[in-house]
Amino acid sequence: MNENSKIIEQFNKGARNFDDWSVTQDEKSIKALADFCELSKSDIVLDIACGTGAFSLLAARYADNVKGIDISSGMVNIAKENAKKRELDNVHFYCQNVEDIDVDNQLFSLVISRSAFHHMKRYKNVFSQMVSCCKPDGRICIQDIISYDNKKLDDYFEEMEQLIDKSHYRTYTKREFFNLYKENNIKVLGLFESESNMDFYDYVEHTIQNDISRKNIDKLLMKGLADEEIASCLMEKDGHILWKRKVCTIIGSK
Ligand SMILES: C[S@@+](CC[C@H](N)C(=O)[O-])C[C@H]1O[C@@H](n2cnc3c(N)ncnc32)[C@H](O)[C@@H]1O
Repeated sequence: MNENSKIIEQFNKGARNFDDWSVTQDEKSIKALADFCELSKSDIVLDIACGTGAFSLLAARYADNVKGIDISSGMVNIAKENAKKRELDNVHFYCQNVEDIDVDNQLFSLVISRSAFHHMKRYKNVFSQMVSCCKPDGRICIQDIISYDNKKLDDYFEEMEQLIDKSHYRTYTKREFFNLYKENNIKVLGLFESESNMDFYDYVEHTIQNDISRKNIDKLLMKGLADEEIASCLMEKDGHILWKRKVCTIIGSK
């Protein structure tokens, strides 16, 4: 099984859970991302790995036209349903691998990818595809989780990510994202790092689990809670475990 079939299988099976997940439904943070991108009525947007359309559907309220592409037909079908429910006719979704899209069309004024690079092995390739689709002077934005600045924490949480979501490939560093812009001569206009406190079990259930996977996740969680350093990223609050995660958002102009 190659990494793309893992992604397709995982997201086709878990599409409904993903769409219902609190983070997918968090309009406030999605609106903050649209504001960060200074989205306006003149924008033509390409949302790479759009999932069930969280960003695309909101962007359609502010931009002229939005195209979302995703490799999972399950995710795309829900995105289409969501657009129909909202009676939006300026947003369209397509099932495609971002690495296979027709590049060099330089059509889009904003090319964005939210929470998806950690699934992508050939992330440099994906970024050059994004650049090729972007018109001169257009903007390119990535928002994704970033790795911890500490190998022990990083190794532990990468193991946890892979137990929760088999299609997780690797959490990249802020430097790796920054270098994508530098290496492609994209001028960085803004970068910010934020910290999120994700509800651990809400995150676990955003994808399909079975008894064995739940048991393995619980076992690794117990191991982490017993370690002072790891436990500092797993706070207990009101009966919930909150997972401290850093997120990087970066935008540049072509
Ligand atoms: C964590 S979800 C994020 C979805 C959406 N961007 C959001 O913010 O809700 C990651 C998405 O990346 C998609 N994906 C991963 N690799 C892809 C590829 N090579 N081409 C297109 N989509 C891809 C998956 O199918 C999945 O829907």
